[in-house]
Amino acid sequence: MKKNLFSIHDQVAIITGGAGVLGGAIAEGLARAGAKVGILSRTAEKVNKKVADLKSQGLEAMPLVCDVLNENQLEAARQNVMDRWGRIDILFNVAGGNLSGATIGPEQNFFDLSIKDFDAVVALNLKGTVLPTYVFAQQMAEQKRGSIVNISSVTAPRPFTRVVGYSAAKAAIENFTKWMAVEMAQKYGEEIRVNAIAPGVFIGEQNRRLLLDEHNELTARGRTIIDHTPMKRFGEPKELIGAAVWLCSPAAAFVTGIVVPVDGGFTAFGGV
Ligand SMILES: NC(=O)c1ccc[n+]([C@@H]2O[C@H](COP(=O)([O-])OP(=O)(O)OC[C@H]3O[C@@H](n4cnc5c(N)ncnc54)[C@H](O)[C@@H]3O)[C@@H](O)[C@H]2O)c1
Repeated sequence: MKKNLFSIHDQVAIITGGAGVLGGAIAEGLARAGAKVGILSRTAEKVNKKVADLKSQGLEAMPLVCDVLNENQLEAARQNVMDRWGRIDILFNVAGGNLSGATIGPEQNFFDLSIKDFDAVVALNLKGTVLPTYVFAQQMAEQKRGSIVNISSVTAPRPFTRVVGYSAAKAAIENFTKWMAVEMAQKYGEEIRVNAIAPGVFIGEQNRRLLLDEHNELTARGRTIIDHTPMKRFGEPKELIGAAVWLCSPAAAFVTGIVVPVDGGFTAFGGV
């Protein structure tokens, strides 16, 4: 058994969506475990704020203002990380989520869906995972070492109503995770691993209004989710950190191509 079973000390990690709710918690968790973290997100103000917050805690972080759908910007971000830290050990593909236009309203049906918005939500989640992997895993392939963790959702195996494009894209991310795990292991050796985490439901900026009303009471949709969660609550973002560190550490050396649910039992529950 290797020493320092769960250590990711001094590893260089890039977290897309690292200025968001779940990505921010994962970035902080990795940094507290000793990793150097590149906070990659689209909005400079949010990225800089997150980096300043981590630095104020004595943690090592750098800003990477970048759109996950823009290959040139991703390549520039890769160069920035290489110039500063000289390697890339970990990639977390967290940027993503639903887009309001791609949500079918309570009074609408499938035929009211905007196909343009469907395309956009699939692109953000699926291409927004594939493209950063394409750019950053090239460095891992050169190093013959690295860990990639994608973010799926419980909506992949059990699609939620109203969010057809989001659910489909997350299912595709799980498929891509397995495909890429095989590709990396077969062509670049056993030290490049690709896995995914499937969070249950966590209150974020994007879904707050779908789950809680203006008085912070559960909406009907929020109540349905809690009723289907054996632990009877939403997740706390910091509850993703354990799985995140484990998947990147020597403790997961023989683990690739899996999806880890962190969902309070949501996917285990048949509903009765
Ligand atoms: N919150 C939940 O309950 C939940 C559950 C399962 C999965 N997820 C997934 O977790 C991830 C993070 O969700 P969150 O709730 O933290 O959302 P969030 O909105 O707080 O974070 C997403 C971040 O991604 C960034 N982003 C969006 N588009 C981008 C782009 N094109 N390029 C670069 N950055 C971009 C946003 O600026 C934001 O900082 C998403 O992939 C989401 O689908 C969330």
